[in-house]
Amino acid sequence: MPLVTSTEMFKKAYEGGYAIGAFNVNNMEIIQGITEAAKEERAPLILQVSAGARKYAKHVYLMKLIEAALEDTGLPICVHLDHGDTFEICKSCIDGGFTSVMIDGSHHTFEDNVALTRQVVDYAHARGVVVEGELGRLAGIEDAVNVSAEDASYTNPAEVEEFVQKTGVDSLAIAIGTSHGAYKFKPGQKPQLRFDILEEVQRRLPGFPIVLHGASSVIPEFVAMINAHGGKMPDAIGIPEDMLRQAAKMAVCKINIDSDLRLAMTASIRRHFAEHPDHFDPRQYLTPARANIKELVQRKLKNVLGCDGKA
Ligand code: G3H
Ligand code: 13P
Ligand code: ZN
Repeated sequence: MPLVTSTEMFKKAYEGGYAIGAFNVNNMEIIQGITEAAKEERAPLILQVSAGARKYAKHVYLMKLIEAALEDTGLPICVHLDHGDTFEICKSCIDGGFTSVMIDGSHHTFEDNVALTRQVVDYAHARGVVVEGELGRLAGIEDAVNVSAEDASYTNPAEVEEFVQKTGVDSLAIAIGTSHGAYKFKPGQKPQLRFDILEEVQRRLPGFPIVLHGASSVIPEFVAMINAHGGKMPDAIGIPEDMLRQAAKMAVCKINIDSDLRLAMTASIRRHFAEHPDHFDPRQYLTPARANIKELVQRKLKNVLGCDGKA
């Protein structure tokens, strides 16, 4: 099966009350861990690549690895640019074989966001590629840029119809209280999402796929495992799994996960070295790291996203 866009996946997910997992990939072990999990669970999949991932691994390496995963799994896989911030990077990914791109104009004014997004949509749609836009600004770290909680802003539901209509985007990322990175809520703070905003967006855009960024749960056992083996992570609180499940039953069709993958990988590598301080063959510590990613992704597909068995 060739790479697919997310159009069909989102249509089925919306109707079926579940969401597709969009997992960030940076190397072979991450891609294998995720795709082996999806293969076992028969889940449709979005593999997403950030500008930082392209810089780290090079576009061509990631593309070839994803093509290998496609051949190995036979699953519908969509390859997506995460947080493209210029027309040029979106064009480069479209020309380089991605089936979906995000143009993140959320740091611009509404008018400039519309103009930039429209430019990308025109280029993408002419080539059969789909586009995710963003309205509202999440807090947290993206590509080493830290957006403080004060600079973050919830999506204004009154703007969504005009944005979608003027840009022609295929899906929309909104800000309802999730944030990027491992430190989403302060210790003692009760995690909360603005489901009222999601409901209002859904009412204004019936049937339209919504995207949640910053949706890692910051799995406590991974943070504890890191700290039990020499790490020094402060207390971290993520998005509770039941809230993500609730969002997936609503208009949210794509849920972005990166930090949990990083934690899974780091936790098992730290534990491995604590237990085997004499090891120096990368295969020795990357094998359990890949297995831990696989286990995490299986859990997400079944318990959080509900997309197992839907491929
Ligand atoms: O939202 C950002 C993603 O976690 C990607 O992070 O830009 O460090 O690759 P990155
Ligand atoms: P997390 O940092 O919560 O994993 O979010 C990832 C993300 O939104 C990628 O675009
Ligand atoms: Zn994001």
